[in-house]
Amino acid sequence: MCGIVGYLGYRNAQDVIVSSLQKLEYRGYDSCGLAILNSENKIEYMKTAGKINDLKEMLIEYRIPGNFGIGHTRWATHGKPDDRNAHPHSDGDSSVWIVHNGIVENYQELKTELEYKGYKFKSETDSEIIAFLISDLLKQEYSFVESVEKTAEVITGSHSVLAMADKDMRKVIGFRKGHAGGLVVGYGNDEMFIASDMSAIGEYTNKLVYLESDQLVILGDNSASYKDIGGGYFEPDHSFIEVPDTHFSKDDFDHYMIKEIIEQPRSIYNSLSNKIIFNDDKIEFEDFILPNDFTKDINRIILTGMGTSLYACEVGQYFIESLANIPCQTEDASELRYKDSPIDENTLLISVTQSGETADTLGAMSLFQTKGCKQILISNSVGSAASRIADIEININSGIEIGVASTKSFTGSILSLLFLAIKLGTDKSTLSIPEAESLILDSTKLPDLMNQVVEMNPQIEMMAKKYSKYNHFLYLGRGLNKPVAFEGALKLKEVSYIHAEGYSAGQMKHGPIALVDNNIPVIAMALTDNYYEKMRNTIQEIKARSGILIGLVTKGNYDLDGLIDDVIEIPECPKYLTPFLTIIPLQLFSYYIALELGYDVDQPRNLAKTVTVE
Ligand code: F6R
Repeated sequence: MCGIVGYLGYRNAQDVIVSSLQKLEYRGYDSCGLAILNSENKIEYMKTAGKINDLKEMLIEYRIPGNFGIGHTRWATHGKPDDRNAHPHSDGDSSVWIVHNGIVENYQELKTELEYKGYKFKSETDSEIIAFLISDLLKQEYSFVESVEKTAEVITGSHSVLAMADKDMRKVIGFRKGHAGGLVVGYGNDEMFIASDMSAIGEYTNKLVYLESDQLVILGDNSASYKDIGGGYFEPDHSFIEVPDTHFSKDDFDHYMIKEIIEQPRSIYNSLSNKIIFNDDKIEFEDFILPNDFTKDINRIILTGMGTSLYACEVGQYFIESLANIPCQTEDASELRYKDSPIDENTLLISVTQSGETADTLGAMSLFQTKGCKQILISNSVGSAASRIADIEININSGIEIGVASTKSFTGSILSLLFLAIKLGTDKSTLSIPEAESLILDSTKLPDLMNQVVEMNPQIEMMAKKYSKYNHFLYLGRGLNKPVAFEGALKLKEVSYIHAEGYSAGQMKHGPIALVDNNIPVIAMALTDNYYEKMRNTIQEIKARSGILIGLVTKGNYDLDGLIDDVIEIPECPKYLTPFLTIIPLQLFSYYIALELGYDVDQPRNLAKTVTVE
């Protein structure tokens, strides 16, 4: 899940590469670097552990003149995130330079073979092997294109790679195998670009070619030729893409995460605004068509995603089961892609992915594609790799999310799932049109309701200060708020590195209650719904064991006073809307605890915004 970029043109390559890498930093920020063909026709490089700003500083002191180059921002898989393991990597003679996204699964075996031939490696990475393989083939008199192509055939796993070689200096060759973050070629005026995704090069061009798996591109002076790996040359289709909202400003906020939490009333309004229209006695999505017979033979739905998107799927499962009465299951995409699930063309796959690039989600989607299943994608990134697999794409429309911890795309995803459930319900006649209308009308209250929760920001900040000294937390919910409990715990782990677990409250007695003492605060979602009495019992059981409790309760309910230590009041709302509201205080709580502990909230350690490797 690294970001890679290449430039061939007339501008200063270092400036273009650094600015494009900054836009790819969401893919990883452990280390970075670039290699440039300098004005004396020599390849020079610069790389460092740390973020793009560190590289930028180094390049102010030492400018590399040149108009051709490749760059990389890394999320470490093999080897520590230090200078030595930073990309680009070269062969022993520094005659071949590569940047790589992916994992060379057979690297140990290839390394042994190369070591046997006498090659010596400098890094602990699997990527370095690619430079040595290309170099070894060049020495056997293969051309640069042949050497890269043969290397692509030999390495296993999923990859995106860019390579330069001093044998064929004015070329950058790129290839893609499987799902490792994609590669897109951009055509400028007298200049060519290539990057992991279009956000990196969108400011320069909107004429693009997306490489598919097992394709290779040879970029030269103002030219690009395309080849199937192991096959012939071909003419690609060009796309002219509207560059998406690249509003990267933090406005007046200190961090993207808090900006993105606070702006949820507006982002949910934007999500609402492109969704449903009424058409006589039918409901249709405004931004795409769900053909009339699309769901006719569907007898089973599988929802899939990873991380926050997986928890959004679990909320979606509740919506679909109760509104459309279709058997549903939610599956972690990394499991689903390797499972022998009994699926056929009557199974509908719904994938949720904010980025549209998550390797495991793409893996599951590809598997279902081979089985002939219909597929709906819910994504915040129009035109992503996932959208090229799905039959139908629902745009979350939350606006670009930059903070690594997902916030507004969770609420945007569950809104899309709610509307999809309503549509499925009316198609399957489990929901009447007036019932659907009333649910949709309810959802239009969301911006206002969410605003009321966002206004609790100062209260949650105080609470976070009080609780930041604890090392463990439990989050409990039931029904629609069970996935919210898991998502709340995930947020805390991600940004504040505190151990937190989500559970369905009913599970407490079956083990987790053994953890309860006065060192582990329990956050319990106890809204006045049909689970309330059961939740109250759980709270009482925790209190009886000297547990510390924070309760999320429906505004005006004082019944738990005396049992809970702190209260967060959630405005009364229709049942399907509760997860949109309960998640906000949990997001704020995680943000303020991380801030209190002095962590980098927007770029937490060990994480990346887009996980393009398994
Ligand atoms: C959590 C988070 C991750 C992502 C997960 C899936 O805050 O950001 O858990 O939700 O990596 O990413 P997408 O939705 O891009 O497929």
